[in-house]
Amino acid sequence: MNSMTTVATDILARTVALACRAPSYHNSQPWHWVADRDGLHLFLDPNRLVQTDLDERQALISCGAVLDHLRVAMAAAGWKANIDRLPDPSNLEHLASIDFTEMTVVTAGHRRRAEAIATRRTDRLPFGPVTDWAGFETALRTRIDDTVALVDVVSDAGRRELVQATDLTNALRFYDPYYFATLQRWTAPFEASEGIPYDSLASASEGDRVDVGRTFPIVHHPDRREQVPVDYSTILVISAHEKTRRDTLGCGEMLSTVLLEATVAGLATCTLTHLTELSTSRHLVEDVTGRALPQVLVRVGDAPPHEQFPPPTPRRPLADVLTVNLEQEV
Ligand SMILES: Cc1cc2nc3c(=O)[nH]c(=O)nc-3n(C[C@H](O)[C@H](O)[C@H](O)COP(=O)(O)O)c2cc1C
Repeated sequence: MNSMTTVATDILARTVALACRAPSYHNSQPWHWVADRDGLHLFLDPNRLVQTDLDERQALISCGAVLDHLRVAMAAAGWKANIDRLPDPSNLEHLASIDFTEMTVVTAGHRRRAEAIATRRTDRLPFGPVTDWAGFETALRTRIDDTVALVDVVSDAGRRELVQATDLTNALRFYDPYYFATLQRWTAPFEASEGIPYDSLASASEGDRVDVGRTFPIVHHPDRREQVPVDYSTILVISAHEKTRRDTLGCGEMLSTVLLEATVAGLATCTLTHLTELSTSRHLVEDVTGRALPQVLVRVGDAPPHEQFPPPTPRRPLADVLTVNLEQEV
């Protein structure tokens, strides 16, 4: 099928730019897009791996998130994305080939999800409780395809175990200079086109109010969200079926679905992987869910409305992440 010719390049460029608002490990944005006459292709960019992500697992999750964001952005533009995952067995960095079919109808739901891409952000401050969790979870479950990845809601007892797992993880990492050097490398006091700006990190006293979270370098700013004394978030765990690139990519696609549905519902989210990086902590998460391969956790909660929030985290320029190559195939 050669449907690319029918999607105007400017629509494609706009939707790729929107998709690249996807979350990524330390905002590393480890992806590259190529548009050619056959369609759009997503590649993992090995030059953009975070140093501690030795098996590319978190880069794959990030690429899954950007892939699903692209699907959502294209749907709002009136195009259904037909995705062929890992199409080239001889090139494992070629994660997806996508062609497009024009949709007959774009619903308000399609538009709302695409708008959520622009408003979503990783919120590391404490959350209030979700007032209608059952309603949100029911709506979320209708959007979830269990064959892609598994999503579990952590019980109160399980949440207490995640607090202990967080403390243990911090203790295990206390003398790991390589880990801390990497965190320093990917956090910055200024706005670059990658990494996490200090404004998006919690100060020491803000971080003290969040019991399940990654410990980032200490930043200093006036205390925010003082009216929420402890974190009342609900935590979701996304697990893979198998330890394969395809299923890890699927966990990233599922992460995108969870984050965007929560954003559409007006909820705040924080993606977490500090508990899936060390085998000791990962086993504790496995005990909580009863699943073998936890990949990524999401804190979901309520943030006060109309709150002053830091600017969105930066992204690399579109020209660095998209190659338009309509003359020849990849
Ligand atoms: C695979 C993955 C792992 C992440 N791990 C964490 C984490 O452990 N702690 C955290 O606060 N944020 C984590 N994040 C969120 C990223 O730091 C965030 O997406 C990135 O800085 C871009 O900011 P934004 O989400 O606000 O657009 C993770 C995101 C992804 C996709």
